[in-house]
Amino acid sequence: MAIDGLTQFDREHIWHPYTSMIGPLPAYPVASAEGVRLVLEDGRELVDGMASWWCVIHGYNHPVLNEAAKKQIDTMSHVMFGGLTHRPAVELVRRLLEITPEPLQKVFLADSGSISVEVAIKMAIQYWYSLGRPEKRKLLTVRSGYHGDTFGAMAVCDPVTGMHNIFAGILPSHFFADAPACGFNEPWDDGYVQGFRDLMDRHQDEIAAVILEPVVQGAGGMRFYSPEYLRQVRKLCDEHDVLLILDEIATGFGRTGKLFACEYAGISPDIMCVGKALTGGYLSLAATLATENVAYGISSGSAGCLMHGPTFMGNPLACSVAAASIDLLLSGPWEERVAKMETQLKTELSPCMHCPGVADVRVLGAIGVIEMIKPVDMAVIQKQFVEKGVWIRPFGKLVYVMPPYIINEQDLGLLTRSMSEVVKDL
Ligand SMILES: Cc1ncc(COP(=O)(O)O)c(C=O)c1O
Repeated sequence: MAIDGLTQFDREHIWHPYTSMIGPLPAYPVASAEGVRLVLEDGRELVDGMASWWCVIHGYNHPVLNEAAKKQIDTMSHVMFGGLTHRPAVELVRRLLEITPEPLQKVFLADSGSISVEVAIKMAIQYWYSLGRPEKRKLLTVRSGYHGDTFGAMAVCDPVTGMHNIFAGILPSHFFADAPACGFNEPWDDGYVQGFRDLMDRHQDEIAAVILEPVVQGAGGMRFYSPEYLRQVRKLCDEHDVLLILDEIATGFGRTGKLFACEYAGISPDIMCVGKALTGGYLSLAATLATENVAYGISSGSAGCLMHGPTFMGNPLACSVAAASIDLLLSGPWEERVAKMETQLKTELSPCMHCPGVADVRVLGAIGVIEMIKPVDMAVIQKQFVEKGVWIRPFGKLVYVMPPYIINEQDLGLLTRSMSEVVKDL
């Protein structure tokens, strides 16, 4: 099929993420990808600033991950997980237990980030149900969060950007505190957590769990907040008999400069979700990790088990690649690379602060964000970036990059230069 036919068919029949079926924005056809480059069907190469929505930490077409996938495909691509188990799942979970906070010992392998959040929410509600406290079934979270697109996850996304009005009456209603207002490096004041504390005080008998993205609120606004906020939340959860769910789906596996963002606060959740970079961006896989207390609480209830079990649970292919991806990450100098990216992003993006259309520039780990005063025109700006040879997909007022960790100084420089050039005219 010629390129025109391909894009035409795509426009007419294929739904893209958050895209209208009436006059959709163009989707650029990709033929292949290698390292930090996407190769378009017309031969153009783009340096990828998105790591395919933050997953592809080792770059594309990585020989080690390819080998893991090929080896597993020749052995067994999939087998049901009910009543069966396999080495890829055991090997992956063994690694996850080594690198995540020690109290997390029981792992549910889910098929995507959103599903791992659904599972986390179910775990929290079922835990209290099993303990004879079925009235504890609400969640407490903060505004500007994002936890996925399924109903349970949507209900804890920011009510405005998550468009709760469309699904009013269908979505469960939860408690929302204001988004954390204390910046990552800002001095702490107890007033920052007062609103959150008030909601906890008032509703602790109804609240099963708090759910938060630790330190970085991603798709809800790319906001970075003080680790002290997390420490305070952990303390409040303990004082109020409420579980803490940390959603590390975007932050996990080194993106913020720590392997997991909760390490900044030195705290451990009761339940934790990981996904995205878990397989180095090769396949859809996520995991919900829980403490023994949570797992045994659920299992001792009348149901006798956690009520969840998807068809592709523990998919061996995804587990094999994930185990290889973790080994690859840990065997390389990821911390140094992310720290270097942070320094370069800070140096090269901070001058954008002086552009008239720019509201803020912020960098943490391998995340570089320019927040504009007004929302950007995605169609226009996307085209400008492609013409400059980079793949950067802004949303709302945010022009940001989260590149693969293997990016070199020159390619990262091309990304920051392109961002600076584009935002100066907005
Ligand atoms: C923090 C967070 N949680 C959950 C999700 C949902 O993951 P998925 O898109 O794999 O369902 C995302 C995706 O962007 C995310 O950033």
